[in-house]
Amino acid sequence: MCGIIGIVGAKPVQDRLIDSLKRLEYRGYDSAGVAGVVDGHVERRRAKGKIRALEDVLAAEPLPASVGIGHTRWATHGAPSQINAHPQRAGRVTLVHNGIIENYAELREALKEKGRTFESETDTEVIAQLLDYELQTRPPIEALKATLDQLTGAYAIAVLIDGEDELIMGARRGSPLVVGYGDGEMFLGSDALAVGPFTNQIAYLDEGDYVAIDRKAAHVFDEAGRAVQRPVRTVAAAAALVEKGNYRHFMEKEIHDQPDACQHTLSAYINPTTGHVHAPGGVDLARFDRVQIVACGTASYAGQIGRYLFEKLAGLPCDVEVASEFRYRQPAVTPATLAIAVSQSGETADTLAALRWCKAQGLTTAAVVNVHESTMAREADVLFPTHAGPEIGVASTKAFTSQVAALTALALAAAAARGRLKPGEEAHDTRLLLEAPRLIAEAIQLEDQIRTLAPELAKARDVLYLGRGPMYPLALEGALKLKEISYIHAEGYAAGELKHGPIALIDETTPVIVIAPSDPLFDKTISNMSEVAARGGRVILITDEEGARNAPAGARVIVGPTCDPMLAPMVYAPPIQLLAYYVAVQKGADVDQPRNLAKSVTVE
Ligand code: G6P
Repeated sequence: MCGIIGIVGAKPVQDRLIDSLKRLEYRGYDSAGVAGVVDGHVERRRAKGKIRALEDVLAAEPLPASVGIGHTRWATHGAPSQINAHPQRAGRVTLVHNGIIENYAELREALKEKGRTFESETDTEVIAQLLDYELQTRPPIEALKATLDQLTGAYAIAVLIDGEDELIMGARRGSPLVVGYGDGEMFLGSDALAVGPFTNQIAYLDEGDYVAIDRKAAHVFDEAGRAVQRPVRTVAAAAALVEKGNYRHFMEKEIHDQPDACQHTLSAYINPTTGHVHAPGGVDLARFDRVQIVACGTASYAGQIGRYLFEKLAGLPCDVEVASEFRYRQPAVTPATLAIAVSQSGETADTLAALRWCKAQGLTTAAVVNVHESTMAREADVLFPTHAGPEIGVASTKAFTSQVAALTALALAAAAARGRLKPGEEAHDTRLLLEAPRLIAEAIQLEDQIRTLAPELAKARDVLYLGRGPMYPLALEGALKLKEISYIHAEGYAAGELKHGPIALIDETTPVIVIAPSDPLFDKTISNMSEVAARGGRVILITDEEGARNAPAGARVIVGPTCDPMLAPMVYAPPIQLLAYYVAVQKGADVDQPRNLAKSVTVE
């Protein structure tokens, strides 16, 4: 998970950049670098490996600058190396970047045709080249805007320009970026922790914002280019690691963290340069004839989504069971089964017991886990990491989408290993998968619309959630989220099962939330919605544009992003999380610490 720091300082910045990068080490990284303005031009120092290696470089060749940027890189495009480390440079531009530029290949080709040559394999260098090109005809802030307008993907950046000695520009979309206000100094950081040693006065940039900072001020612009103010708040530096930012609750923040969390998770599985997807830890997925997933709560619903994907994409039979049942029922397992425990904490007692049972049977065991030092991570034969970062809200959100991201990548890796993909298909599918962070960010933009549904839903006694295919476990997860934090009774059902019982519950007081982006099953779901409407039920349909065109009369429709069905479980998760969140807020519930629930359940 990359980290960013930028300082327009009144005194030398080299040691402070390093200090800040060390605070960002917790995110994981494989190279690091800094750049600063020295005698009117920008110089950089970079090293593969730990910050220690960068410190050695700086000891040999110091960076006597008072304006500078720094970066810890978690490799996505291009292997960890000094050449691919950030800052990347082109002409007058030197910049650092978190995120993925999805259209970098097209941009790179177009720039090459204009005679530009590239030094690294990174998508980041494309931003530097593009910005340098735009700088030929306009001032820095306009050139930045023109550059951002050409990028597709999720990113946060910090930029130095040769000849602009007291300027750092930044921008964010999908990945967070904060502005720190100091005493005659200004800062940019990928989170509050990055600027924590220097200031506790912080403004969080909004989605699509870009900014220019000098020693005294930050000039912030929204995505349309309008000058805006973002509120400056005081943060406790010690708490910055688990800080809520501008959000009212951790859950809201963590919903917004999801583009980043998914991107960082996917980058542990996918090489965007080669389009290759792999299972970490050198596991040969071709040697298994079955997958057994065990998990509890939200993680078990991620597992259920994983089953659809393992079977559909890889033709690999997959069972999913809640760990509390699995561990005691003496299941019949076959030796070539890969047992996968899915868990945010890696400590849930039932899941751990199920994992240990599988290990005792001689099965290969894997853990899809967010806390990488946890018991499951240590005891499983192999760790399949999620990189959601610390999740504080008891109701899981970003850990869930990260689990789905990891399982989707693993299902694709299994498909490739089992020879199920035609030539070119692996690269095509991984490219699609890397669009998930951007699409998730788009889905989060539905927040205002979803908020308007909350007052009415908060009055309901029962709510039904319906979905088909992988949207069925998402319906289960939607119902669980609502139950957990708003205490409203909710049930998730496979849409086709409605007529076998739950339809008896339908009357005009029962909201029915249907999660159905258009797919081959959409028409069948429409019939189920008509059954609900005919009985006076109130349908809220969460779908995409095509689905909205075919929505039954009377349905309240929320239109989400159009995406490949493989991505839909990730992309359609934020709307149902936001719905539960705003209903709970409406009811005045304790969103982050719901009654009777624990974040990690280490007892039976
Ligand atoms: C608790 C939490 C749930 C979580 C479940 C499994 O019940 O409240 O949000 O889904 O445990 O936790 P794990 O850490 O194993 O994913």
